[in-house]
Amino acid sequence: MTIVRELKADPAWQEPLDRDALYQLLSQVTGKSITMLKAFPETGLSPAQTAVFDTLSRRYREGEPLAYILGEQGFWSMMLKVTPDVLIPRPDTECLVEAVLELGKDRIWRVADLGTGSGAIALSLAQEHPQWSFIATDASAAALAVARANAETYQFSNIEFRLGSWFEPLDCRFHCIVSNPPYIADDDSHMSDLGQEPRSALVAADQGLADIDWLTAHAAQYLHPQGWLLIEHGWQQGEAVRELFRRSGFLDVTTGYDYGGNPRYTRGHL
Ligand SMILES: C[S@@+](CC[C@H](N)C(=O)[O-])C[C@H]1O[C@@H](n2cnc3c(N)ncnc32)[C@H](O)[C@@H]1O
Repeated sequence: MTIVRELKADPAWQEPLDRDALYQLLSQVTGKSITMLKAFPETGLSPAQTAVFDTLSRRYREGEPLAYILGEQGFWSMMLKVTPDVLIPRPDTECLVEAVLELGKDRIWRVADLGTGSGAIALSLAQEHPQWSFIATDASAAALAVARANAETYQFSNIEFRLGSWFEPLDCRFHCIVSNPPYIADDDSHMSDLGQEPRSALVAADQGLADIDWLTAHAAQYLHPQGWLLIEHGWQQGEAVRELFRRSGFLDVTTGYDYGGNPRYTRGHL
């Protein structure tokens, strides 16, 4: 029988990130909480559990993101289902959610989340504002199925999911359009670290700016007067994105920061 204490002592699991992964994998395999596993290192794994653990740890060692192995990722105050069809939601995107919440404080808004992926942005906003209404879109039917499943898990009835490219599935105006679109350049060196996530969720033409260009150029037709557009982007794209917002007539264009203090999203209103 494999004992948690022995795995803990294994040199392969000593780095802090690996140690976290070890406990998450063990929790998945045993069904016990991480707190329990830490408090009771004598806990044993049955032969069947050991076999599952060996498979999962091999996938982890081969570089598969932990979120895909576990099938879930924490975002905002929810645990969201994720599959290789969706981008793994990043903590920095919570800063974009916070910015929408700040702008929409004390208002009743209709919001579009374009390129919703796992549904991370729309679901977080819906959790904070059950009285708001949402349309969440994606060009990927597989991604939209994951977002729908997440909305069902948390029983949101105020989010409508629609398939299609950017504004195509929209037929009304919104108080706010928010998007975390693909914005990585084709030749970006970081792409080698992101190889397991869908390329269509990450990469855009024109140095990563093609989708942001499209969104800023067409958003006005789908916004109410004074409506807000907020878009996440790369930390080196702030100036270029602000220029795209201004060129499309947006006012009070400013860039906000992520948890690491990097410029990561731009907002402006009509
Ligand atoms: C960076 S991911 C963001 C996912 C999610 N909103 C998040 O923040 O975790 C970009 C998303 O945009 C979607 N996407 C890419 N091109 C699109 C298009 N032309 N129209 C709509 N969605 C698109 C991708 O399928 C992907 O789900």
